Amino acid sequence: MDLIKIKQADKNDLEVLALLGRITWKETFASLFRRKEDVANYIDNNFSISIIKSFLKNPNACFWIAYLNEFPVGYAKIEMHVDSNLVKGKNACKLHNFYVLNDFHSMKIGLQLWNKILEKVKEQKCDKMWLSVLHTNDKAIQFYKENNFYRVSDFNFEIGTDSFLMNIMVREFK
Ligand SMILES: CC(C)(COP(=O)(O)OP(=O)(O)OC[C@H]1O[C@@H](n2cnc3c(N)ncnc32)[C@H](O)[C@@H]1OP(=O)(O)O)[C@@H](O)C(=O)NCCC(=O)NCCS
Repeated sequence: MDLIKIKQADKNDLEVLALLGRITWKETFASLFRRKEDVANYIDNNFSISIIKSFLKNPNACFWIAYLNEFPVGYAKIEMHVDSNLVKGKNACKLHNFYVLNDFHSMKIGLQLWNKILEKVKEQKCDKMWLSVLHTNDKAIQFYKENNFYRVSDFNFEIGTDSFLMNIMVREFK
């Protein structure tokens, strides 16, 4: 039987997080770009070892890695105490990253990652969580809706020569 384990990541997981970040982002978004160099620049800038190292040093950030039979297959990152112009809370947090490798989708790995996130949110007494998701990312939007997120706004995110319409979604916690 397949065994899914979720581990809170630390500095020893730096390289695994950088690789998972780079590969999952490319799997999800690369085909939407007109120019390959915009993809290459984005992943080089956002998933370098030094960037992930700085994220891991942020005391308000929390990462998890999902393992399937000990193989790393997904990761998530939240950051505590992050308001946006549109989402104000007493103690709002942001879901920055929530990704499972394509080969392992629909195996409830995302759900187990999400359950770990929920434990942290309760422990930290966050009152709101928000995220941005590409408006055409039906699978992720469906997942978020099933977990009580609702859309509050949209914005355009420009990367290189392309522009992407993003939905901002929020979930409240009592
Ligand atoms: C979004 C993503 C992380 C979901 O992870 P996943 O491992 O594929 O999803 P899961 O298998 O855990 O969850 C989906 C299933 O759980 C169900 N589910 C979701 N929330 C649930 C809940 N609270 N309770 C019970 N079931 C739930 C869904 O209905 C779905 O069931 P189905 O497979 O029978 O249709 C994954 O699809 C992914 O990595 N996508 C690409 C990257 C991406 O777009 N990330 C988000 C960027 S904003």
